[in-house]
Amino acid sequence: MARVFITYELPSAAQMMLEQAGHSVTTHTEPSLISPEALVATLGQYDAVITLLTDSLGADVLAASGPQLKIIANYAVGYDNIDVAAAAARGIVITNTPGVLTAAVAEHTIMLMAALARRVVEADSFTRAGRYEGWRPQLLLGTELGGKTLGIVGLGRIGADVARRAQHGFDMKILYHDRAPNAEFEKTAAATYIANLDELLAMADVVSLHVPLLPATRHLLSAARLKSMKPTALLVNTARGAIVDEVALVAALQQGSIRGAALDVFEHEPSLAAGLTGLPNVILTPHVASATEEARTAMAILAAKNVIAVLAEQPPLNPVAT
Ligand code: GLV
Ligand code: GLV
Repeated sequence: MARVFITYELPSAAQMMLEQAGHSVTTHTEPSLISPEALVATLGQYDAVITLLTDSLGADVLAASGPQLKIIANYAVGYDNIDVAAAAARGIVITNTPGVLTAAVAEHTIMLMAALARRVVEADSFTRAGRYEGWRPQLLLGTELGGKTLGIVGLGRIGADVARRAQHGFDMKILYHDRAPNAEFEKTAAATYIANLDELLAMADVVSLHVPLLPATRHLLSAARLKSMKPTALLVNTARGAIVDEVALVAALQQGSIRGAALDVFEHEPSLAAGLTGLPNVILTPHVASATEEARTAMAILAAKNVIAVLAEQPPLNPVAT
């Protein structure tokens, strides 16, 4: 029997599976997140830990892990909260939950794109505020997605799924940027690879971000890059906040150098850059793109499966790249 710690209450499937596999499970059950000190203590005691993307596992924290710790299963597809090299050096396996949240995140992305184009949140606020005085020819005009160009930045599972849905659902033209073209993707989607990100930004009517947060992607959308976008462009970010220079984004939106943005993630979440909430041309959601019953349960099952495999000395299902 091994000892597993879960840093926050998850859908019950995770604990059930772990217990059925014969492990003892301890969960941090308070509504507040686990403190850094308590997290450090668990690394010294448990054989496996399931963490959230809000748990920060830098080299200093990982240094507290004992020789018994075999796996940290991150309950997320992104794992920028973990120093993967430091974990590897200590022989700790790191896993994530790819695939099972792709549809949820892609649906949220498409929903944000459409809501932004058609000013749904503004229209809702307008109506609730009692400002609706009757039909007018130019009330709350939006723009159409059909025939417009979607620029996908980062063609992983989620980027590819957003592209497919935008093309089939909204009849958008697809451009994508990544480190290399993806021949497999181009077999099933009419999409054009753009090697130069600045070119993609200059051509796209809607830009959607799907790269992981890495040193190379931090502030990928810098002040200069935001300026290279069309003044009519819409930006959607369901990846990680720090991919965009959020202060520069607020300035771009205030100055009208882009038309609007829909953000599910923030550079210093849960804090928001000054000025963001005062802008009518933004939609803000609190990091809920994967928040569906289906995805969150499947993520719990996948995290548990990774833990069970590693504790049985089997290869993990979803080891992250080091
Ligand atoms: C959510 O942001 C995730 O990485 O799963
Ligand atoms: C995550 O699932 C990705 O590869 O985009």
